[in-house]
Amino acid sequence: MGVTIVTSPEAGAQLAARLIVDLVRSKPHAVLGLATGSTPLPTYAALADAVRAGAVSFGAVRGFALDEYVGIDPAHPESYHQVIRREVVQPLGMDPALVRVPDGVGADPAQACRDYDDAIRAVGGVDIQILGIGTNGHLGFNEPTTSLASPTHVTALTAQTRADNARFFDTPEQVPTRAVTQGLGTISQARTLLLLANGENKASAIAAAIEGPVSSMCPASLIQLHPDVHVIIDGAAASRLTLSHYDRL
Ligand code: F6R
Repeated sequence: MGVTIVTSPEAGAQLAARLIVDLVRSKPHAVLGLATGSTPLPTYAALADAVRAGAVSFGAVRGFALDEYVGIDPAHPESYHQVIRREVVQPLGMDPALVRVPDGVGADPAQACRDYDDAIRAVGGVDIQILGIGTNGHLGFNEPTTSLASPTHVTALTAQTRADNARFFDTPEQVPTRAVTQGLGTISQARTLLLLANGENKASAIAAAIEGPVSSMCPASLIQLHPDVHVIIDGAAASRLTLSHYDRL
């Protein structure tokens, strides 16, 4: 596992963007797993800068969003359909037809989940899965006690996750109670995991993910079982690591 402790979220975003640009330059039809939330936004902005500078094209890159709320109108500005369109597809010049977001409003959610995993497999799997981490250690919306082998599925959101995400909505009650998420088994099949975190409020989750036991109580601890993981965190997010004093790279 490569753990890089950076001096600022911006420095982390530059580093993460470099890894992604290197992939896409060598593999223009690469497949990216796309997290939403606040953490990856500076990385997406750095990628958009690289596109504007003519350093890379995302025109043939495929994308699979990590998750979507259940029951939210895909046209709602905080639906992940809209977030992915606004923060990723448009600024990176991706082809919308090549980018998929889980279906949170369909009549048959279980079938939609199976179709999502099939679609990822059909294009050869995800090359780099971009991940944030919840304050409770969730990856995607895989909340504590989710099976580490789970496929894409519908899940209930914990009170903590709903409270953490209330900032995106007008009132806390508007935060959906359920979501469709790539499962931990789905995520772990990506060839590379790129986990980003910043801030003191992520320090406990990061310490549990990197140094704690592999346990469904900290879903992000599954990264310890993956052969190619890059963790890029700022000093505050690294502040509870026991081994933060040595360079793991
Ligand atoms: C988002 C997602 C979540 C977030 C996590 C951190 O697609 O899957 O796991 O990555 O909740 O969110 P932020 O980055 O807003 O702190």
